Amino acid sequence: EKGQFEHFMLKEIHEQPLTLRNTMLGRINDRDEVSFPELAPAAGAFKDVEKIFIVACGTAYHAGLVGGAMIEKLTRIPVQCDIASEFRYRDPIITDRTLVVVVSQSGETADTLAALHESRRRGAKVLAITNVPTSSIARDADFVIPTMAGPEIAVASTKAYTTQLLAFCLFSIYLAQEKRTLGQKLHAELVQGLKALPVQVEKVLENANEVKLFAESIKDADSLFFIGRGLDYAVALEGSLKLKEISYIHSEAYAAGELKHGTLALIEKDTPVIALVTHMELYEKTVSNIKEVKARGARVMGITVEGNVELLNAADEICFIPPSLQLLAPILAVVPLQLIAYYASLALGNDIDKPRNLAKSVTVE
Ligand code: F6R
Repeated sequence: EKGQFEHFMLKEIHEQPLTLRNTMLGRINDRDEVSFPELAPAAGAFKDVEKIFIVACGTAYHAGLVGGAMIEKLTRIPVQCDIASEFRYRDPIITDRTLVVVVSQSGETADTLAALHESRRRGAKVLAITNVPTSSIARDADFVIPTMAGPEIAVASTKAYTTQLLAFCLFSIYLAQEKRTLGQKLHAELVQGLKALPVQVEKVLENANEVKLFAESIKDADSLFFIGRGLDYAVALEGSLKLKEISYIHSEAYAAGELKHGTLALIEKDTPVIALVTHMELYEKTVSNIKEVKARGARVMGITVEGNVELLNAADEICFIPPSLQLLAPILAVVPLQLIAYYASLALGNDIDKPRNLAKSVTVE
């Protein structure tokens, strides 16, 4: 049931405060420790892990890019992220100390399932992060962490992605507790940051008006660019995919520092550029990239953290997200991008919940 919303996608975007709460529920105790009741029988199973692969398709792969950064940052275990349809054919180096994390909303994606089987055949342990605990991927994995997004109907994934990011963050803390790699201070800050997210996402949703106007203004654009550095780049990839799949406007996500190595040639007068600037250590660097595209005539929508008012001078429009820890910023920064994709498609009159040529669950290879 869509209720008050015109489309499932918009409803699912607005459900995110609730789904984030649900994914956290019962997983953070009153001493702020993270535990997964589902993983209790597996206690200690991850102690000897030396290498982690994250394997998925599409939006779930984009969640993996952020999740991999979280795991590396908190545990210092090296992580490699792969697209499932590449991973399974590229003879990956797997030992019995390898953990493969597969990520899938539906739990039925053929390439992800095949990558899971291939990983187990080679001796890895497989953890599935999935939204469907009765799915094939959940059934065939060694361990399962369910995301609690509830049924996702719109083909374009929104609430599944943010709950995947949250599940990755919880899992990273869990692993770090086992390996004792996380200092008390950061641990406390992270848990506090996680608990603040639902209300912060609500705030982003309430301030959606500028984003909506911007979305309507790009409907006739031939092409559009998303730029960012670090985790902002991972979020840019997701924003670009979302826009492509439902608006059919061509877009590309680019690591901001790579622009001058080729893509800058495509920036013309009025080319829309969405710049993600939530990485404060990289702030100045991304701002100088914004100036580069502005100098070629681009129209820039900046997505940044409240308080960065100087960006008002560099960008044409700004959407502010509430302050959070760097590792958690993607959960907030993606929300305006979901809305841009939604409102651009709405302005174009597209079939938002069922975009052309796409299926919700990809059970063919
Ligand atoms: C994009 C989208 C797809 C899926 C991909 C994997 O909005 O929904 O890119 O993320 O097909 O699907 P799951 O997560 O079900 O394995």
